[in-house]
Amino acid sequence: MTTTDTHFPPGFLWGGATAANQCEGAYDEGGKGLSIQDVMPRGIMGPPTDEPTPDNLKLQGIDFYHRYAEDIALLAEMGFRTFRFSIAWARIFPNGDEAEPNEEGLAFYDRVLDECEKHGMEPLVTISHYETPLALARRYDGWVSREMIGHFATYARTLFERYGSRVTYWLTFNEINAVLHAPLLSGAILTPKDELSPADLYQAIHHELVASALATKIAHEVAPDAQVGCMLIAVPAYPLTPSPADALAVMRAQHQTLAFGDVHCRGEYPGYLLRHLRELGVELDITDDDRETLKHTVDFVSFSYYSSICETADPGALEGQSNMMGGVPNPTLVASEWGWQIDPVGLRIVMNQFWDRWRKPLFIVENGLGAVDELVEVDGVRTVVDDYRIAYLNEHLVQVEEALRDGVDVLGYTTWGCIDLVSAGTAQMSKRYGFVYVDRHDDGSGTLERYRKKSFDWYAEVIRTNGGSLER
Ligand code: BG6
Repeated sequence: MTTTDTHFPPGFLWGGATAANQCEGAYDEGGKGLSIQDVMPRGIMGPPTDEPTPDNLKLQGIDFYHRYAEDIALLAEMGFRTFRFSIAWARIFPNGDEAEPNEEGLAFYDRVLDECEKHGMEPLVTISHYETPLALARRYDGWVSREMIGHFATYARTLFERYGSRVTYWLTFNEINAVLHAPLLSGAILTPKDELSPADLYQAIHHELVASALATKIAHEVAPDAQVGCMLIAVPAYPLTPSPADALAVMRAQHQTLAFGDVHCRGEYPGYLLRHLRELGVELDITDDDRETLKHTVDFVSFSYYSSICETADPGALEGQSNMMGGVPNPTLVASEWGWQIDPVGLRIVMNQFWDRWRKPLFIVENGLGAVDELVEVDGVRTVVDDYRIAYLNEHLVQVEEALRDGVDVLGYTTWGCIDLVSAGTAQMSKRYGFVYVDRHDDGSGTLERYRKKSFDWYAEVIRTNGGSLER
């Protein structure tokens, strides 16, 4: 197929995504303070530690902090038109509350942007990707406190003032709806989830929503060309049976995601969320200023997509299920080695749903297959023959194209972990997503050498042909 047979629009932003805490390493260099990730050696699988411990693979990551130029050059070799990365808040404000930012941290991201510009890549910057300064988590129990809004606004303003002329696309909070399921990771809340009251949890959510809207307002004032997006985990839900009760369970589950998009896109709380709060007996502290701030809506909607779930009204069927997002497995789908069910069609469905609901351009900023890769030698070259990853991405991109043909407006697509990095959920290195293999292992051993996988050439061709080379 040639470029003329594709439905991807010219200028479609093809690329890949990373997050600071999962790739930079150098956790105590350049004046950086500790972030919550530095005391989360098991990801969301275990409690935080008191201090950073040597078994925490994120402390070194893949050493992107020192190898960023080489890594960005590899991504450029695939023809990336955009590169999503996050800024580590604790590099800029080590304790989150300093009067002045840390110049060494700011200068690091200037150098990253230099490399993006050198290779003609549009930067896509996440302001907060699961890496709140630990000092703020300890002092305030994270976003439970209103004080966080001011600290976040200062941080965001600092970024817009420094990089506003170089960065157009910004994301406020990575997967903001994850706070419902993983309050420490997403809300920097140290109180264990089962001890957290609904009132504290929803107040924390409210503070994050106000902070996100405030950042959007500041971005538009400081950098008029800025495009600010919210970022959601998209998990389409299907009824396990055709019963109306299961359909209602789907509606309730979807409201948990849609509520975050509704506030970001419509500028106010939806009725179904207000009802849910009333039924929980939660009375939120919402000021008039908050209500005004929330009216600063986003320019686009971004999201991650990995999987769908089934919902059921049968409590028996839910027993023993451990999926972070709830629900039960879909009997018609197969799963990855980590139990994430693979559903390319779900991507088309959720794209249509978001577009129909909000009429804001979409940006798919995470999608990909976490798999165990084996480094082998082919014709004297070390590589990974990752046909499984190629098949996964191909099938998902075909569905993106279907959504484009449905009339959905899409800015671009960035695969998750375009270069192997440490997993967020399990903190493993062996759960790999990249086009580039990084020689580092779960026990911390490895040379950190980079190797191009088979998918590297495949994705380069997809980008070169603007999707024309996809197998339909
Ligand atoms: C998303 C996060 O939830 O999924 C990323 O934004 C994360 O940070 C990605 O890495 C994949 O999850 P995991 O647990 O496989 O790393």
